[in-house]
Amino acid sequence: MPRRPGPGTTRAPDPTSDLKWSDVTPERLWLGRRDVMAGAAALLAAPALTRPAFARIEAAPSALSTDEAPNTFEEITNYNNFYEFGWEKTDPARNAHLMTTDPWSITIDGLVERPGVYDLADVMKGQPLEERIYRFRCVEAWSMVIPWIGFQLSGLLERVGVQPGAKYVAFETLHRPNEMPGQYRTAIRWPYREGLRIDEAMNPLTILATGLYGKEMPKQNGAPIRLVVPWKYGFKSIKSIVKIRLVEEQPPTTWQQLQAGEYGFYANVNPEVDHPRWSQATERRIGAGLLAGRQETLMFNGYADHVAGLYDGMDLRALY
Ligand code: MTE
Repeated sequence: MPRRPGPGTTRAPDPTSDLKWSDVTPERLWLGRRDVMAGAAALLAAPALTRPAFARIEAAPSALSTDEAPNTFEEITNYNNFYEFGWEKTDPARNAHLMTTDPWSITIDGLVERPGVYDLADVMKGQPLEERIYRFRCVEAWSMVIPWIGFQLSGLLERVGVQPGAKYVAFETLHRPNEMPGQYRTAIRWPYREGLRIDEAMNPLTILATGLYGKEMPKQNGAPIRLVVPWKYGFKSIKSIVKIRLVEEQPPTTWQQLQAGEYGFYANVNPEVDHPRWSQATERRIGAGLLAGRQETLMFNGYADHVAGLYDGMDLRALY
């Protein structure tokens, strides 16, 4: 059972232990736990997860990759946040097999020249796949290094044609409670939503990932296609996308809707701006072992050379 700190608790989390879901969860959501019971029954009836055979994907290496050692496939696929499948880190690996990912289509609309419902093959058509080994920093102060396979979001946006009035991109995840039992818990206003400013979306670092470790995307990591924005906290990297809309106004996002005082729209990794309930100065690298200790968190997660210019003139403290 996740623990929730008592009311008014302000101490930083124990650096030797994981932050629990309850540590980062607004009370409203926490109290809604019984909502999920119907979903739990569905899970009990589900067959045990057997590890699926993944198709290998050919992808070119990228100069944008870090040379840090990637986490193992086991770590990347067994320690996840994907609340549609449950609230514990191990729930997505156990439950994501319930999600049907084939066929899959994405509705692309709003301020675009060529709106439509594009099936996955069409979305990927002509987009050069690359392996991007990125640091990945969760707002909960843990991190990994993940060898994603994907293509630049800019390539897709150019293909569908962005109209001049478009200032933001809004994304939505699949909403299918009978396959995503966490969605029976109604405290989150499903579907999961995220958004980027258009220049963030067009930045070469921003990718739509369709795989990792040279294979198609495991379901618990957001199959068949998810966003990866490596200089922002992990919650911006929305999984299992079914809708992309180009809009004029800043779109609502799931974590901001839940707790605007704790999770902002920009959510750039920033070691100098603490979360109201814990420090963001350091992080725990998953798999590093207890003796490794915590490591310093880097401004923009180490991608400042590529993205700091996007925020010239903005108060970075206010971007949280
Ligand atoms: N996308 C959806 N649809 N649902 C989620 O719960 N969790 C986010 C993000 N994308 C989430 C999501 C959070 S909080 C994190 S840290 C990352 O996914 C985790 O990605 P990973 O499990 O592949 O490491």
